[in-house]
Amino acid sequence: MKKPWGGRFQQSTDSLMERFSASISFDRILYAYDIEGSIAHCKMLAKCKIIKPAEAKKIVGGLQRIAREFDEGRFEIREELEDIHMNIESRLAELIGPVAGKLHTARSRNDQICLDIRMYLRDEVGEILKEILRLGKTLLGLAKKNIDHIIPGYTHLQRAQPVLLSHHLLAHLEMFLRDRERLQDCLKRINIMPLGAAALAGTNFPIDRNYTAKLLKFPEVSHNSMDSVSDRDFLIEFCSAASIIMMHLSRFCEEVVLWSSSEFDMIELSDAFSTGSSIMPQKKNPDPAELIRGKTGRVYGSLVALLTLMKSLPLAYNRDLQEDKEPLFDTVNTVKICLAVFNGMIQSAKFKKASPEKLQSEGFLTATDIADYLVLKGLPFREAHEITGKTVAYCLQSKKNLAQVSLAEFKKLSPKFKEDVLDHISIESSIQRKASYGGTARKNVVEQIERLQKKLKKA
Ligand code: ARG
Repeated sequence: MKKPWGGRFQQSTDSLMERFSASISFDRILYAYDIEGSIAHCKMLAKCKIIKPAEAKKIVGGLQRIAREFDEGRFEIREELEDIHMNIESRLAELIGPVAGKLHTARSRNDQICLDIRMYLRDEVGEILKEILRLGKTLLGLAKKNIDHIIPGYTHLQRAQPVLLSHHLLAHLEMFLRDRERLQDCLKRINIMPLGAAALAGTNFPIDRNYTAKLLKFPEVSHNSMDSVSDRDFLIEFCSAASIIMMHLSRFCEEVVLWSSSEFDMIELSDAFSTGSSIMPQKKNPDPAELIRGKTGRVYGSLVALLTLMKSLPLAYNRDLQEDKEPLFDTVNTVKICLAVFNGMIQSAKFKKASPEKLQSEGFLTATDIADYLVLKGLPFREAHEITGKTVAYCLQSKKNLAQVSLAEFKKLSPKFKEDVLDHISIESSIQRKASYGGTARKNVVEQIERLQKKLKKA
């Protein structure tokens, strides 16, 4: 098969080399962008009188036909044609004859591939933003629905203080909203039109790059032809934002895994989002959460692969850059499906409430409230801490929880304790008192729900 670049070659390509060099197995997914970009380029060439209107018409018609062939699964991919660009160009020549050869005027595959991945990625980032928004709305809905559900809050994975489940869910929502902002910011640098840089130096033809940008809905053109063909910062930024999304999902998944164990007993996943064991009939496993946690590794891996790919590349285009696509596509696909699966899993899960007695009886969740109580009675916090520590030690010795300590016993620990201490140690009052901005008091959380609801509505 004659290569579009074959002019100066006497021998044909080794078949091993051909296979090694081909990217069509993965870059074929770019076909719609490649064709849309070519149509815009062709229209620009005609507008700038670089090709004739009749030629442009023929080329555009051929490209549209090729797009239909792809859409309907009729396009015949040829590996020996290396990549998506040459597969399309060679089919165009079959369809419309030698005039097809005019399409590549003032263009190179180097700027063409940059255009394709920018168009692809801006669409995909749009999809990911929608997925995050969907998940955000789910979390907000769950926070509303479970507003009276109290859980133990943890630090060091040790029971710390009671919090509202809603507060916990909204903490995760905050993370996902930052993820959205990061992607939106990254989108600004994805959405830049590189075509016209040609191989690296720009072109001799009087092209109108702004016109191409307008046709393809890019708000800006790139400003340096060498940077245009070699810049992959936007991919790295995207993969870094994607890694942070996965890290957030993975942390949440870790909690889902822990919470669904009988040791925590705080969540039950729906049958639709769990799997069984092929040997142990009693098992219901949180596999979606584990898979998402596991897939986080490959997304980090892609980020590192891209950073490493770029670190020693001299300007401008180098063929190494072909290796950017598989990590990119894998990251896009992984993040999208993980967000969707997580959404389905969490939406259909049942949060299991522990009784107030159970919350009260384990882990001294309100010990800090006792210390705060003593501060209210005039003790410095450090002293209050010490007395409360002794109270806990007393409880451990006498096998009691804080609610079982009588007023007389409290008074023995410190004369500062008065009747109203008993009030302070209830789980509900502990929550209610956390009214500092950003705290877990019910009224604060309700306010946050309202704020976030407005924010999500605007998004
Ligand atoms: N398949 C190539 C890539 O992904 C397209 C650009 C090829 N350019 C070249 N000079 N061989 O980067």
